Amino acid sequence: MQSGQAWADEAATVHPGQWPRATWPLPKDAALEQRVASLMARMTVEEKVGQLIQADILSVTPDDVRKYRLGSILAGGNSKPHGALLANAEQWKELADAFYRASMDTSGGHVAIPLLFGIDAVHGHNNVVGATLFPQNSALGSAHDPELIREIGAATAAEVRATGLNWTFAPTVAVPQDVRWGRSYEGYSQDPQLVAQYGAAMVEGLQGKVGSAEFLDSSHVVATAKHFVADGGTKNGKDQGDAQISEATLRSVHAAGYPPAIEAGVQTVMASFSSWNGEKMHANKGLLTDVLKGRLDFQGIVVGDWNAHGQVPGCSNDDCPAAINAGLDMLMGPDSWRGLYEHTLAEVKSGLISQSRLDDAVARILRVKIRAGLFGQGAPSTLPLAMKSTEVVGSPAHRAIARRAVRETLVLLKNNGGVLPIDPRQHILVAGDGADNISRQSGGWTLTWQGAGLKNENFPGAQSIGAGLAEQVRAAGGTTEIAADGHYTRKPDVAVVVFGEDPYAEFQGDIPNLMYRPGDDHDLELIRQLHGQGIPVVAVFLSGRPLWVNREINAADAFVAAWLPGSEGGGVADVLLRTRDGRIGHDFHGKLAYAWPRSAVAGDGPAQFPLGYGLTYADHADVPTLPEASGISGVQVPVGNYLERGKAVHGYTFTLAGGTGTAVSADVSPAETADGSLRMTALDYKAQEDARRFSWNKDSAELAIHAQSPIDLDRETNGDVLLVTTLRVDALPTAQAWIGMECGGHCQGHVAIGAQLAKLAPGQWVRVGVPLKCFRAAGADMHHIDQPFVLGAGNGDVLAIHRVALGTDVDQVIDCAK
Ligand code: BGC
Ligand code: BGC
Repeated sequence: MQSGQAWADEAATVHPGQWPRATWPLPKDAALEQRVASLMARMTVEEKVGQLIQADILSVTPDDVRKYRLGSILAGGNSKPHGALLANAEQWKELADAFYRASMDTSGGHVAIPLLFGIDAVHGHNNVVGATLFPQNSALGSAHDPELIREIGAATAAEVRATGLNWTFAPTVAVPQDVRWGRSYEGYSQDPQLVAQYGAAMVEGLQGKVGSAEFLDSSHVVATAKHFVADGGTKNGKDQGDAQISEATLRSVHAAGYPPAIEAGVQTVMASFSSWNGEKMHANKGLLTDVLKGRLDFQGIVVGDWNAHGQVPGCSNDDCPAAINAGLDMLMGPDSWRGLYEHTLAEVKSGLISQSRLDDAVARILRVKIRAGLFGQGAPSTLPLAMKSTEVVGSPAHRAIARRAVRETLVLLKNNGGVLPIDPRQHILVAGDGADNISRQSGGWTLTWQGAGLKNENFPGAQSIGAGLAEQVRAAGGTTEIAADGHYTRKPDVAVVVFGEDPYAEFQGDIPNLMYRPGDDHDLELIRQLHGQGIPVVAVFLSGRPLWVNREINAADAFVAAWLPGSEGGGVADVLLRTRDGRIGHDFHGKLAYAWPRSAVAGDGPAQFPLGYGLTYADHADVPTLPEASGISGVQVPVGNYLERGKAVHGYTFTLAGGTGTAVSADVSPAETADGSLRMTALDYKAQEDARRFSWNKDSAELAIHAQSPIDLDRETNGDVLLVTTLRVDALPTAQAWIGMECGGHCQGHVAIGAQLAKLAPGQWVRVGVPLKCFRAAGADMHHIDQPFVLGAGNGDVLAIHRVALGTDVDQVIDCAK
């Protein structure tokens, strides 16, 4: 019998010869090789190592680039010039110029090598205010239109160039097989064939067509196929998880997008955070080197993901020779770049990383820079598109493409009684949380990383779905009322209810099952209520993925899967409304690129609506009542978890309160009490922004988690369960810290933890457990806990917290008898 380890090793062994061959489309170029060789001949080993390192603009300055000769910088989802959420094109160009000049500075005898400046322009140039926001990729899948994808790519490239950047981390060619994965919306389809077609089309749009004059010219950008490989194949759809699949599935399903992207000339490939059969992709030489660079003939740059190398066994965020030796050419070390640079340099000098591996990586990076014309192009702000950025970013032409994309991606799941198309000469109510909410219709990777905390005014030039409907109805002589809660002043002839998921990105969007908004039926109730008043209801569902919404589908007369359409909400009105002279202006085109589930249980086949499903106005058959059993019992938030990855879990809210009372929400970071007594910022622990740091500027402030309805912890209290807080002490000048549970009114039990925390090593993450019995002993009524976690500390104290949950597995128990 094989040992577990032997099985895992065998399961993670690749056979490159079994993979399809791909061919790098660019012919050998002697002149280019000559330039690379002569640059490299002049570079010191320090300069070469610098090329391998990419830093984030929040943690690196132009002076750092001047000194360390870094090859690349990136702007992460929350990283803006001067930290300004709404930084405009001018500020982006200024920043790009400053870094560019630093990279070209030859004082001290340095070789001038322009840098690559990357950003996640994944549905348009989504980090920049006023940019055109295209539908997210899961929406685009339903258009089945590679030519549209090409146009979106070209428009996106133009907007990126207009702000001084030259590289986007797109397209994602994931093939999501379990949409519980929070990144499913970044994938075009669950169907590998469609992903393969689209990936190549997007690469061509972004970079220009290989062999044409536009290829990588100053109107195009370097593209990235990501995340190699099987990011969409992890067990239970867990982000950064493990794809426990055969090599055949890896090859034919999850890698399907790579050969066509490579043949379209994609210049970079990003390695995945995830693992294949237990082995982290960032250290998988067989896949990165033997398959990708060998069999698939990829001759561009393999770039790492955000500190993902730090998850390789034996590595840390600032040190990972194993990743470079496995085939990574550039490491993404957003905040860890300095240590990475120093360790990598030492490892090259010691021979742990060979000279030839270093030279191969540097040569790949230089080739991409030369092909992209970065040498001799001049400062980013002087390029043609950047000279007219206000005309390019969010231009009417780009918005027109986005609006067409919205029209093409809507999928009609139900249209009973032919309630659609709507005659615009009537009185129409637009209701639901999504009626006038550009953030909700855009999703994550929009102005902020998670897309959280945004208002309509943050989207100049964009149109909400409600505003788009109102505009066209008015033009046709009808009237509208927009009211999220569905209240109207005049009874409408028809109601459009727009509702759906809150924005999310990466792992924060992972869910345990396919239930839409577990435990919160307010959208369903709104639909039922309007329908109950005899008003025909059209439901427009905003989501990054198919979810179980059979009850909502049943309750509505018509149901449209609108995905995450982005900034051009008017595209929805184009399809839902008749023209003013009563014609059908635009029919539905969208066909599902993700199967729609029949229950909330992931993988419970057959689908309710299969791949390819989508009605048009020519279809007249009614959809019969769908089964309403979700297949899931109860609300599936693990009982006893209160705070996960720095955020309150479903059913709980998180607040900060200063000495003078009024609490402020801590659901979105950063947050601060009105009197400045307590400040919260986001922090990376095991993953990005999965912890919060709290700084006290006064003695009396506290943070609290509130239960929506009181919980009974009596049983747990008797069972020796603890309240476990995963925390890190950053500074503890006072010994005042305490953790409490509260039970309404003056009912509470506070337990001092300051003295015992002070003994912990600062900067170390520890799971600190307070026995529930301690809260009871201190006065809490464990039958009626309405705040299962309250924490106070003193002026100058700084604590970081990642998780709060009931449990028994702890590093340090607080002894309340002391
Ligand atoms: C994501 C990548 C992204 C990178 C830079 C990572 O967390 O996985 O898709 O390109 O950050 O923002
Ligand atoms: C994202 C970044 C983001 C960061 C937050 C990364 O995974 O890709 O864009 O700013 O996490 O720490």
